[in-house]
Amino acid sequence: MRFTAALASAAAFAGLAVAAPAQAAPQPRAFSIPAGDGFPSPNPAQLAVINDLADGTLSNAPPPAKINEASFPVFQLIAFNENFEVAFFSSLIQNITNGVPGFDLPSSPKKDELLDILQTVLAQEKLHAINAINTLKKFNAFAPTPCQYQFPTSNIYEAISLAERFTDLVLGTLQDAAQILARNGDVGPVRGVTASLGQEGQQEGFYRILLSKKPSEKPFLTTNVAAFAFSALQQFVVPGSCPFPLDSIKLPIFPPVAVLSGKGGVAVEPRDQALSFQVDLTNVKAADKYVGGKGDGLFVTYFSGQLLPISVPIVNAKWTGRVVTFDANFPFAANFMYGLSVASLTTSGAFAAPGDVVAATLAAPGLIQVDDRVKSWDGFKL
Ligand SMILES: *[C@@H]1O[C@H](CO)[C@@H](O)[C@H](O)[C@H]1NC(C)=O
Repeated sequence: MRFTAALASAAAFAGLAVAAPAQAAPQPRAFSIPAGDGFPSPNPAQLAVINDLADGTLSNAPPPAKINEASFPVFQLIAFNENFEVAFFSSLIQNITNGVPGFDLPSSPKKDELLDILQTVLAQEKLHAINAINTLKKFNAFAPTPCQYQFPTSNIYEAISLAERFTDLVLGTLQDAAQILARNGDVGPVRGVTASLGQEGQQEGFYRILLSKKPSEKPFLTTNVAAFAFSALQQFVVPGSCPFPLDSIKLPIFPPVAVLSGKGGVAVEPRDQALSFQVDLTNVKAADKYVGGKGDGLFVTYFSGQLLPISVPIVNAKWTGRVVTFDANFPFAANFMYGLSVASLTTSGAFAAPGDVVAATLAAPGLIQVDDRVKSWDGFKL
């Protein structure tokens, strides 16, 4: 409780533009991963420093003899995502370290503890990225290097909340990675992918408890697909800042589904209800025949847990040019839709598997969270 009050007042002061200390100058809008430890290509001495912070090392198992080309996008997406995460946690650590308004903690022990944990997370994310990059390099496949990034977060509550959301999506996406590798006969890296999946799950439990949510979200976590993760990441990348064309990664990029209900989807109540959405279909050719119509033939399709995709028809479609707002039912009760649901706007309403949704998607993802909240017991409440 004390913590909540301190943060609320810090945020309020930041809003009032109280003069900030000299070291707390706002960061440039385009954030680059700080140089210094050699990431993403550390030399052996630099890697030893990263290992030390990460409490562990890369695998020393020999790489698989071959990897199916169809599996390259899996590692490219993992590297693209981990590069973003490295940037995000670097920025968060800088902000906390420098006491940027909104990122100040109520006591120096809390600050030290959080920085200690985040430094380890950052080093672990670096090793996740390096692992994917090494795999790609080994097979002479394109390996994404870091872009410049932008974050929509301006205080610690928003930052932890965003970390919880994108980590949750990663937990679904790594399921898809394991599935694709298995389908392609690339069994070699499956153990490592699932090892990092569990690791991200440990992080997720920590972020959730900081946010007064139960750390374990569902019995079987919500799945996701690679294309939706790649699409979601685009909002954090400064357009045009990647040192490679985005189509070097053979995954589609869909426009986002903006969730208008429940504080942008982050605080949706645990009940059946209609949710409102908005989508900009300006660059989506496949949407032509729906533009200006009533929404007939369009669906919101949800991933929730390990349930088969759940589709509901959209209603109340209202168009402004190619931007559409609409409503769709959120069938909470019948499907126990606690935790994360991943919404897409689709042209079909019947799917036999999550992977089938991509081919019928016009826009994705929209993230919806329904929380089973708890009281934090140590006063460390964001
Ligand atoms: C760090 O602070 C800057 C300036 O307020 C902000 O733009 C950025 O989003 C913050 N970083 C994170 C990860 O929240």
